[in-house]
Amino acid sequence: MVQTICVCGAGTMGSGIAQAAAQHNFFVILYDVNEGMLNKARTAMESNLQTLVQKNKLTAEASANILSRIRFASDTNECLADLVIEAIVEKPEVKVNLFNQLAEVNHSDVVFATNTSSLSVTEIAKKVARPQRVAGMHFFNPATIMKLVEVVATPFSNQETIDIITQTARQMDKTPVLCQDAPGFIVNHVARPYYLEALKLVEQGVTDFQTIDTLLEASGFKMGPFRLMDLIGNDINYAVSCQVYDALGKPDRLQPSPIQKERVEKGELGRKTGKGYYDY
Ligand code: NAI
Repeated sequence: MVQTICVCGAGTMGSGIAQAAAQHNFFVILYDVNEGMLNKARTAMESNLQTLVQKNKLTAEASANILSRIRFASDTNECLADLVIEAIVEKPEVKVNLFNQLAEVNHSDVVFATNTSSLSVTEIAKKVARPQRVAGMHFFNPATIMKLVEVVATPFSNQETIDIITQTARQMDKTPVLCQDAPGFIVNHVARPYYLEALKLVEQGVTDFQTIDTLLEASGFKMGPFRLMDLIGNDINYAVSCQVYDALGKPDRLQPSPIQKERVEKGELGRKTGKGYYDY
C-alpha cells in the first residue's frame, strides 16, 4: 500500500496536492527543479495550516505533524516513493523524461500518476519504461478543497495501478471517478464552452469580462469564467483549449481564443503571476 507519495512540481497544483496528502497521513516528498518554488510552496502551506488552526479546524500539534511529514527536494535521487504524482509543466516530453528519470531510482512497482489537464495520458504512458504503471490522477484547483479526482485509464494501465490511485484518492478524502483517456477527460471537455463562449462575447464586443462574471455568479455559478481562468492559470487553460481543439479535429466551435493567447504571451497568467483578467 502507498505510504510515501512523491509530488513533482511545487506550483499551483503540486503544493495543494502535497498538502492534501500530508493532511491525510501520507509521507510526502515535494520535488521541484526550482528551489524558489519549493520555498514558496512551504510558506503557502504553513500559512494555510495556520489559518486552519486559527479557525479551530486543526490543532497546532496536528499542523506541526502535517508539516513534518513533507520533505522538500530538488534532486530526483531523493524521490523514493510508492506513488509519484506529477504536476509539472504541461509539456509531454518533460513529463516523460521525469517519469523515466524517477523509474531509474525507484522500485519496479512504483506507480506513475500524471495530473495533466490536457495531454494524452496514453501518449505519455507509451514512452515511459513501464506503461502499465502509468495513469492519470487529475485533481481540481484548489486541490486541498476540491473533492473530485478523475482517474484516467489508458489501454496500457493495469488494474492494480488504477486500484492504487483510486484507493489513494479515497484516503485523501477525495471522490475518485474512473474515466477512459479522451481529450479533456470529462470535466475539461464538458466545461470548454463555458470559457470559449464567454471569450467570444468579449471578442465580439458584446460585453466586457467583468459583466459576464458578475452575471454568471449572480445566476448561481460559483465562479465566472474569467475569474476561474485566472485561478486555473491562463497558460494551463489555453493549453487545454488547444489540445482539445486539435484532438477533436479542429471544430470551429472549439477554436481557442486570440484574447487568451495574448494574455499568455504577455505573461498575464492569472493569480500566480499577480495579473490576469484581474489584478491580484
Ligand atoms: P504551475 O506553473 O503553477 O507549476 C508548475 C511547477 O512545475 C513549477 O513550480 C515548476 O518549477 C515545476 N517544474 C517545471 N518543470 C519541472 C521539472 N522538469 N521537474 C520538476 N518540476 C518542474 O503549474 P500548475 O498550474 O500547478 O499545473 C501543473 C500541472 O497540473 C499541469 O500538468 C496542469 O495541466 C495540471 N493541472 C492544473 C490545474 C490548474 O487549475 N492550474 C488543474 C488540474 C491540473
